[in-house]
Amino acid sequence: MDIKKAKVGFVGFGNMASAICDGLLTRNAADPSNIYACARDQEKLLAKCGSRGINACADAAEVAAASDIVVIGVLPQQVEGVVKGAADALKGKAMFSIAAGIDFDRYISYLGEGFNHISTIPNTPIAVGEGIIIAESRHSLTEEQLELFEDVFGQIAKIEYFSSDLLSLGGTGAGCAPAFVDVFIEALADGLVKNGMTRSQAYSIVPQMLVGAATYMMKSGKHPGELKDAVCTPGGTTIVGISALEETGFRHSLIYAVDKIMEKKHSM
Ligand SMILES: NC(=O)c1ccc[n+]([C@@H]2O[C@H](COP(=O)([O-])OP(=O)(O)OC[C@H]3O[C@@H](n4cnc5c(N)ncnc54)[C@H](OP(=O)(O)O)[C@@H]3O)[C@@H](O)[C@H]2O)c1
Repeated sequence: MDIKKAKVGFVGFGNMASAICDGLLTRNAADPSNIYACARDQEKLLAKCGSRGINACADAAEVAAASDIVVIGVLPQQVEGVVKGAADALKGKAMFSIAAGIDFDRYISYLGEGFNHISTIPNTPIAVGEGIIIAESRHSLTEEQLELFEDVFGQIAKIEYFSSDLLSLGGTGAGCAPAFVDVFIEALADGLVKNGMTRSQAYSIVPQMLVGAATYMMKSGKHPGELKDAVCTPGGTTIVGISALEETGFRHSLIYAVDKIMEKKHSM
């Protein structure tokens, strides 16, 4: 199918669903006239759909009837009621679930067999076409639906498949960690401001440095340790900074943060 002709629906049009929609529009990966959305608050929905030029629908069943791929974008505790309520219209459609913790088995327990769904965790950089979609390798999309899912959403995110037991951890790495990066940027900027740079100068270089360093690592295929070593001149200044980071437990802070998130997820 020509992806520009693919009809994409959003059941729930909150923060994450609208970020995905914005990514599709930014990257020209879908035509606004082929995008459908619903939410509970019609007034808010009409404003959000109007500003994007997409179609506002009355409910999940209307979205499903109009779409080839339906993004299930409600809160995890709302998924069961929403998919059961629209089950007839969802039959035969490709459901792309973004609800945290609602995996393949949960969908089976809500809908039984005979539906086409894939459970994922996307992250917010998808709004600018630079996202990650952590997708459960166990799914029930047809070959054609999977191809369409990858063709459409692969334009705004890197899609990585994980076994069911790693889905939640993948979500921590892709979905929670952007907040760690925001703190890193803010803290590094604080250090630069403390030493005399203006805040706007700091924010104009730090994010680009981060994008550049990550892009360089991905494109060169080099190990991060090798790249770090290459900028640490013996007896130089960068190694002094690295040593200070080790002294203050920078690496362990990140490992500990992942441990704590997973502890919290397991207790929920
Ligand atoms: N935010 C993230 O970074 C992130 C990352 C990965 C995954 N997720 C997942 O994305 C999902 C949405 O999260 P969010 O942060 O976008 O939440 P949100 O902003 O609260 O959005 C929830 C949306 O669902 C709508 N809704 C609720 N009940 C509905 C119903 N019966 N029929 C149709 N629409 C209904 C809400 O409409 P009203 O506003 O009108 O009530 C709202 O548009 C969650 O399952 C979450 O786990 C979020």
